[in-house]
Amino acid sequence: MAQRFDPPQNFSGNAHIKSLDEYRSVYERSVADPEAYWAEIAEQFHWHEKWTDVKKWNEPWVEWFVGAKTNIAYNCLDRFLGTPTQNKAAIVFEGEPGDTQTLTYLQLHREVCKFANALKNLGLEKGDRVAIYMPMIPELAIALLACARIGATHSVIFGGFSAEAIRDRVNDAECKAVLTADGGWRRGRVIELKKAVDEALADNACPTIERVVVFKRCGNEIEWNDEVDVWWSDAVADASADCPAEPLDAQHPLFILYTSGSTGKPKGVLHALGGYMVYAAHTTKYVFDLKDEDVYWCTADIGWITGHSYIVYGPLANGATALMFEGAPNYPDWGRFWDIVERHRVSIFYTAPTAIRAFLKQGDDYPNRHDLSSLRLLGTVGEPINPEAWLWYHRVIGKERCPIVDTWWQTETGGIMITPLPGAVTTKPGSATLPFFGIEPAIVDEKGEAVPQGEQGLLVVQHPWPGMMRTIYGDPDRFRESYWETVPHAYFAGDGAMQDEDGYFWILGRVDDVVNISGHRLGTAEIEHALVGHPSVAESAVIGTPDEITGEALVCFVTLIGGIEKSDALKDEIVDQVAKEIGRFARPKTVRFTDALPKTRSGKIMRRLLRKVAANDPSLGNIDTLEDISVLAQLQAEDE
Ligand code: WTA
Repeated sequence: MAQRFDPPQNFSGNAHIKSLDEYRSVYERSVADPEAYWAEIAEQFHWHEKWTDVKKWNEPWVEWFVGAKTNIAYNCLDRFLGTPTQNKAAIVFEGEPGDTQTLTYLQLHREVCKFANALKNLGLEKGDRVAIYMPMIPELAIALLACARIGATHSVIFGGFSAEAIRDRVNDAECKAVLTADGGWRRGRVIELKKAVDEALADNACPTIERVVVFKRCGNEIEWNDEVDVWWSDAVADASADCPAEPLDAQHPLFILYTSGSTGKPKGVLHALGGYMVYAAHTTKYVFDLKDEDVYWCTADIGWITGHSYIVYGPLANGATALMFEGAPNYPDWGRFWDIVERHRVSIFYTAPTAIRAFLKQGDDYPNRHDLSSLRLLGTVGEPINPEAWLWYHRVIGKERCPIVDTWWQTETGGIMITPLPGAVTTKPGSATLPFFGIEPAIVDEKGEAVPQGEQGLLVVQHPWPGMMRTIYGDPDRFRESYWETVPHAYFAGDGAMQDEDGYFWILGRVDDVVNISGHRLGTAEIEHALVGHPSVAESAVIGTPDEITGEALVCFVTLIGGIEKSDALKDEIVDQVAKEIGRFARPKTVRFTDALPKTRSGKIMRRLLRKVAANDPSLGNIDTLEDISVLAQLQAEDE
């Protein structure tokens, strides 16, 4: 039986939700009458106009706070002006070369207003799409909030993506501008962001782009195109600091964020303003038991959903102090995070299991050299956490004092869906435990029938919630097909899961062709597409295999075009091809040459067999020479 950890009494005593009974009673209320529940929560925010209906649901299309008008930048900033919060730190920034910067709510408000006016002066308006490709610096948060303030829909592209990936995303969303920087710092080196944008835009490959706004971060040499490029500092120089937040319809598209699915190109997940705002803010407050005096640090990148919801919008909408970090966990050494926790007196720390596993491997000395006594709550997100990593986190980082919230959710869900509430729910290492308020998950088979307790099935959510994505940008059919048709009348997440005797959810990982590498989602179809872009590659099949640190790793089986020699140099080139098409973070761990890919008679690649090959499954005999795969496939086909 799994070990159990009760919430520490002194934590529960001060928590927003103090006991399992209290959690259950709020939860019951939230699902019995979701409209009343969410209306009550929404009342806590500022609305330029109130809603006529809390929810309109026409599967799979939902509208929350119908008819209402609001602005998330107003709710994150203006709402606190004239209150004691205005002089509180909104963003505490810690940069790689050691520079730190603090922006109070008042200062952040001013910067956002100025930049919002700068965007307007550059011709951007409500309804335009704006791509953001920036390092993890305060200006990135300012960029998001400035877009939100004027009603431009932002599409953040993670700084690790390549020029090709930028081009696809910019064109799919028909963005009118790109906000970027000359470079960003990583392990003492400059990541040349502007250069990647230039490459993406070269030869008029992104015809909708009118402007590229460049923040000067590293001072590295860049090319300049007077017709499009404008320095951030010039754009804000004459911009007024007076920029009232635009009242926007609650259904207004706040942002698009691309994520990988099992087939085809990445999907532009679209989130609508009102519902997303309420859900991101509400989950932040309760999952992290956020208090006025907390210093909250989420180590994600704003290029992913975790950074959107739990660095920028959720914390700021609660008037919290959020730490923002540019850099790597192991630079200058593996003590970097703990040094930051100590110096900034971080009280809430939220990171990915991959990072925890990497720290665990480095031993206890790094954290033990630092004073971590300010920590009171720990969290994880992005992939299943193995009990060994959980227990290490609990013991070495949390000193057995801090509850751990293992939070399951997705880009599509907007906010945390299954999680312990730290003052109320007993945790078990490896389980995300129970649903958040208003969320009704279930484990079913493909027909939508509930599977018996303790058995594996598909994780679905049965009713819409305010943070639910609205559509896939430009492809509503794909939204319906991907999420609402696998299982009838339920949102299908793509994950497998089981429920134990206490009703706790255990997330088992993706059941589709999505792999999770260090918490980064990648579609095998995307990687295969990148691989066949190499002139020597005829065909490829990509699978995820278990990896001690990164959770999963990519293994690519590749057949070469006739007459091409197999060589290690070619393998390196093929790996680089993925870096070029997608980004370095997506580089496969292994490339294996084979003469043929194993296929069923109907031509489907036998991935299960490839997984066995990758795992060196002894049931297959000696498979050192990969050419044997085709033989194996033949054998297997005869078996079937
Ligand atoms: C996985 C990240 C197990 C899951 C917020 C999901 C998790 C995908 C957990 C979404 C968790 C996320 N336990 N698995 N606590 N959290 N996942 O869109 O497979 O980048 O479908 O959103 O990550 O990844 P995404």
